[in-house]
Amino acid sequence: MSTRDLPADWFKSAVVYQIYPRSFADSNGDGYGDVPGIISKLDYLKTLGVDVIWLSPIYRSPQDDNGYDISDYQDIDPMFGTLAQTEQLFAEVHKRGMKIVMDLVVNHSSDEHEWFKESASSKTNPKADWYIWSDTKDDLYAYFGGGAWEWVEARQQYFFHQFSKKQPDLNWENDDVRAAVYKMMNWWIERGVDGFRMDVINLISKDWSKKDQGTWQMCQNGPRVHEWLQEMNREVLAGKNLITVGEMPGASVEWARDYTNPERNELNMVFTFEHMDLDGVVGNSKFDYSKMHLPDLKANLNHWQKGLEDIGWNSLYWNNHDQPRIVSRWGNDGMYRVQSAKALGTILHLMRGTPYVYQGEEIGMTNCYFTELDQYQDIESVNWAADAIAEGSRSTERILDSLQVKSRDNARTPMLWNDGENAGFTTGKPWLKINDNYTEINAEAALADKGSVFWHYRDLIALRHSHDIVVNGTFDLLWPEHEHIFAYQRKLVGKTLTVVANFGDHAVSLPSDLAAGEVVIGEATLSGELSPWQSFAILS
Ligand code: NOJ
Repeated sequence: MSTRDLPADWFKSAVVYQIYPRSFADSNGDGYGDVPGIISKLDYLKTLGVDVIWLSPIYRSPQDDNGYDISDYQDIDPMFGTLAQTEQLFAEVHKRGMKIVMDLVVNHSSDEHEWFKESASSKTNPKADWYIWSDTKDDLYAYFGGGAWEWVEARQQYFFHQFSKKQPDLNWENDDVRAAVYKMMNWWIERGVDGFRMDVINLISKDWSKKDQGTWQMCQNGPRVHEWLQEMNREVLAGKNLITVGEMPGASVEWARDYTNPERNELNMVFTFEHMDLDGVVGNSKFDYSKMHLPDLKANLNHWQKGLEDIGWNSLYWNNHDQPRIVSRWGNDGMYRVQSAKALGTILHLMRGTPYVYQGEEIGMTNCYFTELDQYQDIESVNWAADAIAEGSRSTERILDSLQVKSRDNARTPMLWNDGENAGFTTGKPWLKINDNYTEINAEAALADKGSVFWHYRDLIALRHSHDIVVNGTFDLLWPEHEHIFAYQRKLVGKTLTVVANFGDHAVSLPSDLAAGEVVIGEATLSGELSPWQSFAILS
């Protein structure tokens, strides 16, 4: 069924599963996941019950940032397969009643994209103005280390990049750039794509008057971003009922209301980072961490739930390819791995919003705990460690400790399919080390165990489909100041869904008795003590 035939708000009852293709399933033994590998696992995703599959980029790319540096938006990188195989993947996804979302990375391209090569070749070529050029450079910084300006001999000018120097920012002020992006999006829609996850889309409009405040302040939520998203909507999205989510570092509830207000015709939902930053250290590098304080997390999520109650829509996530594994981060990946993964899943999935499951989250995959610097491959981690060593700002021990907690590679180690060689991910040499715990944690073992995280996630996803209260109910936090219990209520037409989880390794007393009702997930306790990481929901 085409998305055009679905109700306009179909995305509200959908659950999205994110695939990081290079780490999902390798069909040809080269050590990298690929498109035929994904096709071979679609029945697994159907069993889980997800509605939509989002693919991190599989386009042609030099892979400087694992595909978030695209050199051809309309072709597939040979490491992943071919365009024909990708079209087959779309057909197989649709055959199973699921939808497919592609990553749209258009704040920047690769420096190996033809557009950039032309732009860099001379100041007079037709694409001269497709990127951001300057005769001089200043001390704006790039997020992956170093400065934001890179010299090009042929033009005798610098180009601007927020991310790596192989990821030049496109000049969205140029009408032809925007037209080319819209044309490319329409081309993918014609091939069967049902929506887009838009990479750092709130960074496309630059406000040069804020240059003195730094790269970040100058690029986020710039003056023309809403205008361009509305234009994109008119040129590409309107009338097609696609699913759209904008990745928006720094996005506040107030911004999200504007971006997702249906009357403004921009996006369905955004990815905020606020809740994921609660274990950071304000003003420090993202690799410095602190302990997350549960009342802060509850307050933040409550703010988003309430803030988008009357206008707009929310996305719900703990994990993606940029975040460490949630069970290691805010759960207990040792003694209570299964219970804490279930508790985290329960709290996330029964809130108002569209939940995203990142590959491996559904089996409670953990951080990878690499012990050597050279085991890391992520450009952000590698550059940060190199800078920290060069500056002498941290000991190697401290760098390794930070990476174990915060590196993006924690999410990127290959999917654990079984307890065989290379966890069933590849018959070759995996591109990134397989997590050592694969003999215990893997999809095959999870499928065989009805008490596993997998079946719990499947039940949570099914609950959203069967119970309108999960989709449309109001949200009220219970016991906001409690240090260990995360609990809330959803209400819809006389019904109440009470969701409770103990976010801790110790038994804890319920602050007050709960009303009896139908236990829709977990094992309920109505009064007295909750066991460590116990979680459940009751419908009354
Ligand atoms: C956000 C993506 O999720 C991340 O992986 C990437 O490095 C940056 N955007 C740059 O594209």
